[in-house]
Amino acid sequence: MPREYVIITGAYGGLGKALSYVFAKQGYGLVLVGRKEELLKIEKDKLAQQTDVIIEVCDVSNWEHCQTMYNNLKQKAVNYKALINNAGITHIQKFDKDFDIEQYQQLIKTNLNAYVYLSKLFIEDLQQNKGSIINISSVIGYAPVIGRASYAAAKFGLNGFFGVLQAELKGKLHIMMVYPTFIETKIRESIKVSIQHHEILTADKVAKRIHTAYKKKKEKVYIGNTARLTYFLYRYFPKLYINLMKRKIKI
Ligand SMILES: NC(=O)c1ccc[n+]([C@@H]2O[C@H](COP(=O)([O-])OP(=O)(O)OC[C@H]3O[C@@H](n4cnc5c(N)ncnc54)[C@H](OP(=O)(O)O)[C@@H]3O)[C@@H](O)[C@H]2O)c1
Repeated sequence: MPREYVIITGAYGGLGKALSYVFAKQGYGLVLVGRKEELLKIEKDKLAQQTDVIIEVCDVSNWEHCQTMYNNLKQKAVNYKALINNAGITHIQKFDKDFDIEQYQQLIKTNLNAYVYLSKLFIEDLQQNKGSIINISSVIGYAPVIGRASYAAAKFGLNGFFGVLQAELKGKLHIMMVYPTFIETKIRESIKVSIQHHEILTADKVAKRIHTAYKKKKEKVYIGNTARLTYFLYRYFPKLYINLMKRKIKI
């Protein structure tokens, strides 16, 4: 049987790297996607002894880049089993007259549009292989956090878009939404605000949880106590959640 491949975007980022190792260990081939060829090559060299690795240089926020990547892979006749939409950016911005529209646009293009672009391109191949689309969302995909309006717009948007797809494609394609709490990765370096964290997960732990949930064909995965508690609190006690959240986060 030809090797089954998993496509991972943001592959040399914190969670992307951890996912690569977890899926490689389980015998999957990897398509590592990112903007910087030299970093992709480093990851490929590290993983080459474990599995087959293809690298694709692609800015996933750019529709033409995504199409080119898809066509490149088509020529290699890769047998896809899963697309992991993981690449993401973040920033903190209060909404006022100085709100930076270009930053907002780039965030939506990366954290929302790219997920749609790649899902559209790979959907038929994934359906044929009884595969999965795995979308990395966030706690801010279902609960608001001050200063994160753009990030919330994208991550809440994923819920709407892929919620519809889960209904449309039930029984035809597995789509899984992943809601992790804080993870120790570089993305956090761009967040220069005071947040009291009681829980920060390692990327390795989150990646293992994602793989287990994928094997069980879960539709939603809340990773970390904060993720589960926030879901419960915001759903049943929204005013209390907002008060607690504003007390914890200073921007
Ligand atoms: N860390 C957390 O606390 C946390 C919590 C919940 C959810 N998440 C989500 O987890 C996912 C992974 O984030 P992370 O924490 O692993 O962050 P990270 O270490 O900063 O990794 C993000 C990766 O995305 C890539 N990327 C960004 N824009 C891209 C683009 N236009 N095209 C291709 N690749 C692009 C980055 O590559 P470049 O170096 O080229 O920019 C980087 O490799 C994100 O979707 C994030 O929203 C993170």
